[in-house]
Amino acid sequence: MNLEKIKSAPSTREIDITNMNIPYHRPILPSDIHDVFPKSIQSGWLTTGPQVEKYENALKAYLGSDHVVAVNSCTGALHLALAAKGFGPGEKFIVPTNTFVASAAVGEWLGMEPILIDCDPNSHNFDLNRVEKALTQNANIKAIVPVHVAGEPVDMKVIFEWAEKYNLFVIEDAAHALEAESTAGKIGNTNHAAAFSFYANKNITTGGEGGALSTNDEQLAYDVKHLSIHGLSKDGWERYSAKNGWRYEITQLGYKYNMTDISGAFGITQLTHVDEWHKKRFQIIQKFKSGFDKINGLTLPSFNIHGKHGYHLYIVQFKEDLWRISRDEFIKKVNKSGIGTSVHYVPLHLHSYYQKTYGYTNGDFPVATALSNRIISLPLYPDLKDEEVEYIIHTLNQLWTQYSL
Ligand SMILES: Cc1ncc(COP(=O)(O)O)c(C=O)c1O
Repeated sequence: MNLEKIKSAPSTREIDITNMNIPYHRPILPSDIHDVFPKSIQSGWLTTGPQVEKYENALKAYLGSDHVVAVNSCTGALHLALAAKGFGPGEKFIVPTNTFVASAAVGEWLGMEPILIDCDPNSHNFDLNRVEKALTQNANIKAIVPVHVAGEPVDMKVIFEWAEKYNLFVIEDAAHALEAESTAGKIGNTNHAAAFSFYANKNITTGGEGGALSTNDEQLAYDVKHLSIHGLSKDGWERYSAKNGWRYEITQLGYKYNMTDISGAFGITQLTHVDEWHKKRFQIIQKFKSGFDKINGLTLPSFNIHGKHGYHLYIVQFKEDLWRISRDEFIKKVNKSGIGTSVHYVPLHLHSYYQKTYGYTNGDFPVATALSNRIISLPLYPDLKDEEVEYIIHTLNQLWTQYSL
């Protein structure tokens, strides 16, 4: 084995760096499948049933909310919340441009028009001054979709005040923010609604795909649940239980977004680790902070600006004027060293669909545009080994030594 000493890393222990291959994300999977799949699944009940109910209850306890409806994606939860409120054509909603397409698409599917908002360069969340301006300048805004980018909470106290003032429905995109707390308290404990993602690379996963809606609004939870199963009055498990009988009724036109019991069981096990994994990611962030402190060509992320962070993404900003290589060349070199990366995000207004459909241009939203040209997301997950963290630190320091101006 070819061992090479990493000198610039905090530790000088010997690490084999010849074959380092650190994916952008690596989930922690159970070592024994029997830990995940209880008797009910092994006896053959695979779709929505007792495990989903148990997972919903566990999430409710974790989030401190009155109702949780588990579905098959965060996208589904966002869509159902807006659909349950009865929004449609002619109505508008506010959403950041610096987000994943799901945050906006869900309203568009209902015929609503998105009003994109530029971002704050520090928090990466939408700029609240611009949100307020949009609220005063546009008629017919019915909803707002605050996205807690990377796990950094939006200042929700302000958003809820505006919700009262402007009569808005607030559906939080909390895909990154399961553990987060904002200025208004625990995200998910809301009289409006919050949507969480349990996709494969999220803080916890329900086996690859999954999501949930959390709310204190009983009627909303009821409507979302029923819309998630084609508007049926009983799901499969309820019909299967002898006492409920087989009859069902379609009470409204719905969708098909229910979570399977396989996913629910997966989520139950993952949720038991949520705080431990959050802490582990924080420790990695601390190591990055000290390990990157000599790299003047990178701006390190800020955390906990408006509350407790979810520590979902670690996004550094590349200061191009201090390097002899571009951001894209830097990404290639990091990847070539065996380290996976990502970019969160190419803002919505830069995509051809949003330009064609709503007339946005590359010149709109200069803060988000400039940010998107500067950022790189590095691996951040609890399964990152100490030597992998050290290798990432070592690699970036080496690139800085080699390519700084
Ligand atoms: C900010 C944001 N919102 C929504 C989603 C959609 O989540 P899901 O894949 O669970 O539908 C994602 C997924 O990556 C996301 O990052």
